[in-house]
Amino acid sequence: MGVEVRQRKFDSASNSSTDGQDNVVELKKEVGILGGISLVVGTMIGSGIFMSPASILVYANSVGASLCIWAGCGVLATFGAMSYIELGLMIKKSGAEYQYLKAAYGDVAAYLLAWTSIIVTKPSSFAIIAVGFAQYVTTPFYPGCLPPATVQKCAAAFCILLITLINCFSVKLSNFVQIFFTAAKLLIIAAIIVGGFVMLGQGHTENLTNAFEGSATSFSAIAVAFYSGLWSYDGWNQLNFVTEELDNPVRNFPLTIMIGIPMVTVFYILVNIAYFTVMTPSEIIASSAVAITFGDRVFGPASFIVPVAVACSTFGAANGSAFTASRLTYAAGRNGHMLKLFSFISVERLTPSPALIFNSFIALLMIIPDASNFSTLVDYFTFASWIFYGATFLSVLVLRYRRPDWERPYRVSVFLPIPAICFIASLYLIVAPIIESPQLAYLYAAIFIVAGLIFYFPLIYFKKGPLTSFLQELLEVVPPPAEEY
Ligand code: ARG
Repeated sequence: MGVEVRQRKFDSASNSSTDGQDNVVELKKEVGILGGISLVVGTMIGSGIFMSPASILVYANSVGASLCIWAGCGVLATFGAMSYIELGLMIKKSGAEYQYLKAAYGDVAAYLLAWTSIIVTKPSSFAIIAVGFAQYVTTPFYPGCLPPATVQKCAAAFCILLITLINCFSVKLSNFVQIFFTAAKLLIIAAIIVGGFVMLGQGHTENLTNAFEGSATSFSAIAVAFYSGLWSYDGWNQLNFVTEELDNPVRNFPLTIMIGIPMVTVFYILVNIAYFTVMTPSEIIASSAVAITFGDRVFGPASFIVPVAVACSTFGAANGSAFTASRLTYAAGRNGHMLKLFSFISVERLTPSPALIFNSFIALLMIIPDASNFSTLVDYFTFASWIFYGATFLSVLVLRYRRPDWERPYRVSVFLPIPAICFIASLYLIVAPIIESPQLAYLYAAIFIVAGLIFYFPLIYFKKGPLTSFLQELLEVVPPPAEEY
């Protein structure tokens, strides 16, 4: 590309967004039904199903209660996603909760969500999954001992950087990666289910008898068990982040959700039955990587496929996470609720590269400290996320009251008050662990959310500085088309 043309692009970039040849520089509608299902299913199935069964079992305290928690989380994810279909088809802008909170409660609420998600929850989920990836890819090289922390961190950083590169390069390539790895993970899930059920058929039912003996009854223990389960289901709202890029959303959105989430729920329950067939509850609790132990017992010499498949599963989920996190950052930047630069799109590649780079930069920072325990990180992630999910479920009802005239191509059931059920469930999930075992970390999380207000006004008032122009030149990006968002 000649310097002159490039110059033209940047000149025009300051006010509008054409590529110098009058083509509009914006994100295209490239996510079809297969891409959509892969985005949802491929992000939901990531690290959790291979790492969380132990922590759920610890809190649920029996095989039966544990399976009920897995099923309960599936119902909650399905109900949650159904409420989100109504919102996604009514407010057709990418960015999920950010857009809905903005419509229901105004700019400050939307900004606080953007702040928390962009600085903490999105990069931390990217980092947690990358750490899961690193654990599984490095373990086979260190038989009999734990891989050194530095090696694991380098593997996690490699995963983050590669995914960022793919996503900056092209939306099509990222979709392809998503579909490919979703297919790979469905194969391993199927293999685990078949392996488990063959063992079940051979009469290994001992762990499934008296399944409810000793079940937890404490409210908070159940809530914490839900936290781990909900991590495995997290990603049920992925489509809402990319509504603008969805092809034929009115048809494809509900279809994707109604196929994808119940499918994942059934798979998770069957995988857990398979685990319980092969391992006793105490073995599951003792093993940090259940799938490896399962593979050793069931697949014998072919057990090496387990770490490979789990690496694929986590890589795909990390790709889906990075893809949607950048769309949220993009949407918030576009509205001036984050740096404007985050909403700029690569002229050449039509990808939101500044948003992608920022998300991975924070994720990289998060893997530097000596890894906190996987399940603790997951607990804080779930706590912070469900505060905003709860507010969003409530927004379905608020908007029905405040904006009855807005067109709703899909209305979530009124007979069964689904958004209200989800809202009450969120309240319970947030409050129960605090009441039963107050921990300072929950307070810090809450303070962090509110502290975002410190940056609210500077951001609103200093929209475009010299740094933006410099980075704009460097990354070859331009603002999205000017519109009223
Ligand atoms: N469910 C995924 C897993 O088990 C985590 C998804 C994280 N959430 C997200 N929106 N990226 O690893």
